[in-house]
Amino acid sequence: MYCFTHLIKIEMLLSFLLLLLLPLQVTCNGSKVPAVIVFGDSVVDTGNNNNLQTIFKVNYPPYGQDFSGGQPTGRFSNGKVPSDFIVEELGVKDVLPPYLDPNLQIEDLLTGVNFASGGGGYDPLTSELASVISLEGQLELFKEYLEKVKSAAGEEVANTILSKGLFVVATGSNDVTNTYFNNPLRKYHFDFDSYASLMVNSASSFLQDLYNLGVRRMGVFGVPPIGCLPSQRTLQGGALRECALKYNELAVLFNTKLSMEINYLGNNLPFAKMVYIDAYYLPLDIIQNPTKYGFDVSNVGCCGTGTIEVAFLCKFTCTNVSEYVFWDSFHFTENAYRIIVRDFLNKDMNLLM
Ligand SMILES: *[C@@H]1O[C@H](CO)[C@@H](O)[C@H](O)[C@H]1NC(C)=O
Repeated sequence: MYCFTHLIKIEMLLSFLLLLLLPLQVTCNGSKVPAVIVFGDSVVDTGNNNNLQTIFKVNYPPYGQDFSGGQPTGRFSNGKVPSDFIVEELGVKDVLPPYLDPNLQIEDLLTGVNFASGGGGYDPLTSELASVISLEGQLELFKEYLEKVKSAAGEEVANTILSKGLFVVATGSNDVTNTYFNNPLRKYHFDFDSYASLMVNSASSFLQDLYNLGVRRMGVFGVPPIGCLPSQRTLQGGALRECALKYNELAVLFNTKLSMEINYLGNNLPFAKMVYIDAYYLPLDIIQNPTKYGFDVSNVGCCGTGTIEVAFLCKFTCTNVSEYVFWDSFHFTENAYRIIVRDFLNKDMNLLM
């Protein structure tokens, strides 16, 4: 979309200022970022879990029913997920492939890949309980990726990816829903505040590890209004399935601490550009005012009864997914993800350049 709007401007300018054409086109032509690298959980996983022994995978219908060719790819939605929309909107490529895809070519590596693994979190216990790739594991895979890029394309190309590439992290919801409230190792040893700090400390050391490898442009999504996910309404929202307030409170507490830490790191790590990306207030507004955004239903997901099903429990779907904010009881539809990603790019991208 960036390139598209620029092109329209270019055409309008063309009749007056022919000479402006060339420099503008160079700025537009995907050169804003050479590559996009993503870490995180099922919000951004594009199929890494297909290759793992875990129940947290979705490489079967109805997942992917609206993806190109109607293919289930391991994306936890009906179509594209935020990692795809980021590369699409920036004009880098159409979708962001998972690093564990055995068919990846070297050209795929050079414009970025995805290390995210559904079911994971900032708390190492979260990925351990789900048998998926922890953030530490994702970092190890990223180091392996860097070596591949260096040996195939040279040190300079690798350094450009590190310093000019966009690095995105999106995780945290599973820590709250799957680990904190359900696991005695966490619930009885941490209050809200100290658990949110544990999550933020993990995020902070991950970002510093990336920085120490040479990464400079980092965007980190906060968590959504977790209490308003259809599954949490069902489990914690009472007979009326209202948003579960204590889950939203923990989400806000975590987001506040995370955004403070990101500001701190951005101000203290030389040449780092770091932004905290809102995934709370915009999604909350979409959930509370779905018609404003072209949706009709926001309290149940499209698959199954919409109240509790995810993954293999998703057997049948609603008749018109375009009416829904949520695809299953835990994940947004691709139309909702597109709105959230466009908002991020419009608001924050200039801060990362
Ligand atoms: C599906 O829902 C969308 C959004 O409400 C609407 O624009 C579209 O016309 C619907 N399609 C059908 C076939 O009903």
